[in-house]
Amino acid sequence: MQIIRSVKEMQQLMLELGKENRIGFVATMGYFHEGHISLMKESVKENDKTVTSIFVNPLQFGANEDLERYPQDLENDKRVAEEVGVDILFIPEATDMYPTKMTFEIIAKQRTNVMCGKTRPGHFEGVATVLIKLFNIVRPDRTYFGSKDAQQASIVQAFIHELNFPIELVILPIVRETDGLAKSSRNINLTTQERQEAVWIHKSLEYGRQFVVDGEFIPAMIVQEVINMIHEKTSGTVDYVELLSYPELEPVINTGNQFILAAAVHFSQARLIDNLIIDSE
Ligand code: PAJ
Repeated sequence: MQIIRSVKEMQQLMLELGKENRIGFVATMGYFHEGHISLMKESVKENDKTVTSIFVNPLQFGANEDLERYPQDLENDKRVAEEVGVDILFIPEATDMYPTKMTFEIIAKQRTNVMCGKTRPGHFEGVATVLIKLFNIVRPDRTYFGSKDAQQASIVQAFIHELNFPIELVILPIVRETDGLAKSSRNINLTTQERQEAVWIHKSLEYGRQFVVDGEFIPAMIVQEVINMIHEKTSGTVDYVELLSYPELEPVINTGNQFILAAAVHFSQARLIDNLIIDSE
């Protein structure tokens, strides 16, 4: 496995490699767990070369968020990537990714006024900016994202389509702990008590899904039931619970084929997100 730290070197390498090879790309912020591994494995299976990036992107963190506390374990990440069969690990420096003050700014006009976009202003613009840069550096044929961050996947889908990136987007299911908690680098910031409670985020979403499956369709009522259950079973504070169309993230009255029932919950040192994608029939 090659480890590249320079943006310029990476771009040159990929220009060459991309001529003869089908390139799969997994963008990450590191501290690998099974969720990341599932994306890398799929890419290794489906492509000639797999590139994984590790970059804790300052642009997508708000002033009071956990940029400084974001967990890191580069040695372990290198070992895992190598084991999984990643060919190139790209680990740029922030000063190399953002050497000068940006002249241009990405503005998202849809899909960001809901869910995490409401409480994390600028977050998805920061995600879109870094991904557009990474796509231009890596020039992948396929890129792999987890539906754990379903709103992120929806935004990536929109800009790949709207800005004509010649990239196939592959979205893979959420990898969970055996008790159902969605795997996340941030789970490490939960206290023992909170870790036990956190399983109720998933359970509450499943409870909400059952209403939809049973044909109950007053979104506000379902959302309230889920909020009540999370508050009853955990010491966390609900940031949001929303039921929307997917991937458009619009009110379900303008229905699509799929819905998303999503939640974000604040614990003392971690904000966790989870969701379920529900087919409409
Ligand atoms: P990060 O949180 O490291 O996640 C990298 C990828 O792993 C994302 O596509 C995310 O959806 C996926 N992932 C995380 N947990 C998962 C789980 N439990 N099951 C399946 N997939 C999971 O998302 C980011 O980094 C950043 O925003 C990034 C896209 C790298 C841009 O900076």
